Amino acid sequence: MLLLGIETSCDDTSLSLFDEKRGIIFEISQSQAHLHNKYKGIVPELCSREHLKNLFPLLDILLKESDKKMEDITHIAITTSPGLILSLVVGVSFGKALSFLYNKPIIPVHHIEGHIYSSFLEEKREYPFLALVISGGHTELYLVKDFEEYHLLGKTKDDAAGEAFDKVATMLGLSYPGGPSIEKFLENYLPQTKIDFPSVNIPNYDFSFSGIKTFTKALIEKNNYNKKDIAFYFQENIILNLWKKLYKAVIDTNVKNVVVVGGVSANKRLRDFLSKESRELGLNIYLPPKKYSTDNASMIAYAGYLRAKRYQDKSFNLVVEPSISLESFIKNII
Ligand code: KG4
Ligand code: ZN
Repeated sequence: MLLLGIETSCDDTSLSLFDEKRGIIFEISQSQAHLHNKYKGIVPELCSREHLKNLFPLLDILLKESDKKMEDITHIAITTSPGLILSLVVGVSFGKALSFLYNKPIIPVHHIEGHIYSSFLEEKREYPFLALVISGGHTELYLVKDFEEYHLLGKTKDDAAGEAFDKVATMLGLSYPGGPSIEKFLENYLPQTKIDFPSVNIPNYDFSFSGIKTFTKALIEKNNYNKKDIAFYFQENIILNLWKKLYKAVIDTNVKNVVVVGGVSANKRLRDFLSKESRELGLNIYLPPKKYSTDNASMIAYAGYLRAKRYQDKSFNLVVEPSISLESFIKNII
């Protein structure tokens, strides 16, 4: 099997080729961050327009660089949900046109499912595992018992972790996306004055980040601390609150295999923190390489491969749904 993966759910246009025997052959992505930066956040109409502009030229490059033809491809795996509706529609329409022209089956993939399987791109993981998905649009914790057996344990009640990074970066006058900007702003910085944040008390495995964001906003406005200390302790509190729920899930489920995926998992401080904690607790924590933390089509191609293998000749209903949960998406597929 040779799958073409298509990912356009937000502001990255990404295509990838996954070969059953060789793994990822080639991935090409076009970031739009420089365009959205002007507006301090994502402009949905701009996303879809850019996807439309980027997709065909990127496909040309992908095929040339990997020395493949469209005829060699066996399946087309596409993110159909969730995401920005127009961005999804552009990606799905592009995939449908290719499918029609070259008579290739389409495999729908849920974006969160893609993120979960970004952890399989370099080496296989063992089931069951806990999956913490932390991105710009989502903060969700799953118990994954097998492929398509995803049990949502908890999710954010308000902002996603990445969204909090993006909003606080804007407050600090830093560029979009906020996570990498805050990381760069804090490079080699050692905090000078400790800032205590109020504790976040959300029951079960759910998360909340809007209180941390609002507290950070007040700190910036009061101007009593230096901005780097504020950014440092903001980041620290996001990490500690993610860890609090992940740790609880590890203890309660006794599942020692953990994957941490999505854009925020690229954060170095988080990576160092998780590596240290996992060593101490004997956990098997896995974070994908940074290039697979943020949105990419390789994770979509790989999840699509697992689906194609499971269902063989099934033809799937393609429904673009901007906010369907992973569990409902799977119910609709089966
Ligand atoms: O997974 P992703 O590429 O797109 C979504 O599905 O949302 O995640 C993007 C989010 C953005 O909010 C961005 O600020 C955050 O991930 N992010 C980071 C880092 N790199 C990206 N957050 C913290 N530290 C980073 N190094
Ligand atoms: Zn994502």
